[in-house]
Amino acid sequence: MNSSSVSDPPIVLAKNLSKRFGDFLAVDDINLSVPTGGCFGLLGPNGAGKTTTLRMFLGQSHQSSGSLHVLGQVMPEQTRSVRRKIGVVPQLDNLDVDFTVIENLKVYASFFALNFRDIESYIDELLVMVELEDKRNTRISELSGGMKRRLSIARALVNKPKLLVLDEPTTGLDPQVRHLIWSRLRELKNSGTTLLLTTHYMEEAERLCDDLVIMDKGKILKRGHPKQLISEYVESDVIEIHCSMEMANSLLKQVSDIRYELVDETVYCFTNEPLKIIKELETQAGLTWLHRPANLEDVFLSLTGRELHEAQ
Ligand SMILES: Nc1ncnc2c1ncn2[C@@H]1O[C@H](COP(=O)(O)OP(=O)(O)OP(=O)(O)O)[C@@H](O)[C@H]1O
Ligand SMILES: [Mg+2]
Repeated sequence: MNSSSVSDPPIVLAKNLSKRFGDFLAVDDINLSVPTGGCFGLLGPNGAGKTTTLRMFLGQSHQSSGSLHVLGQVMPEQTRSVRRKIGVVPQLDNLDVDFTVIENLKVYASFFALNFRDIESYIDELLVMVELEDKRNTRISELSGGMKRRLSIARALVNKPKLLVLDEPTTGLDPQVRHLIWSRLRELKNSGTTLLLTTHYMEEAERLCDDLVIMDKGKILKRGHPKQLISEYVESDVIEIHCSMEMANSLLKQVSDIRYELVDETVYCFTNEPLKIIKELETQAGLTWLHRPANLEDVFLSLTGRELHEAQ
């Protein structure tokens, strides 16, 4: 059960928040109120400002201007007290490689001065939760990437945080590990922990997020529930046809209400009436095409463009 209620104050409240590195504005005057409970996503291409934003939420980086409250407390002034109530899974794992799995969890727990007897059994529960109980005495250097990620999540939960911040929790992981992590994150969300995550996996955002923003170049472009954004920004169906734009135009000249986009050698047809298009395509032997529902990736690409977002 989600224990939040509409009367809970926002877990994060940012007003005109900016972060400048020299002349470069990495976060540009964002306004954001993240409700308590549920899973909130920060999406955006490389360099959009997601990690910089999260680092300000965690007090690891101080805003250049604007105001920020996390868990109702003023940042960065009240960072110490806020950090005790937050769990963090950073973009790059920062586990202590000289220690074993269990030592990493115990050393981290010691920073919070938690009751030791309770914490021993809680750490055992966490190891079971992330399916690492048989690795408890293994050194970090001997763990796979997926095991390290699961351990980072377990470590972030040691202090039973109200807010769990995850920066790209499943990047580079295989589908089994990703699904295990999604399932654990859903359980946490259902038990009342607020999740705040960044991701490049649109499927992850669609599965986990109740609410999200799409950022680019330090600004928030759009906010909404994944399904709401899909219905607002793209047609219901996408048909990807492997042909030239001329061929698509000539094949589909009788069909109205289509929006086309050519990317490399694929024509993307966005439509609310896919059957009309499919009828035409089925008359063409040898033509390859794919019909699928529109997804968050289509929204993301339409808002942030298809060109590469190189580092500034
Ligand atoms: N300490 C720093 N000094 C100077 N520039 C920085 C610093 N940290 C981040 N930046 C710049 O700020 C911009 C935003 O970086 P940030 O790491 O927040 O992006 P991101 O959205 O997390 O990207 P990614 O998806 O690649 O993780 C980038 O252009 C980056 O080069
Ligand atoms: Mg990042």
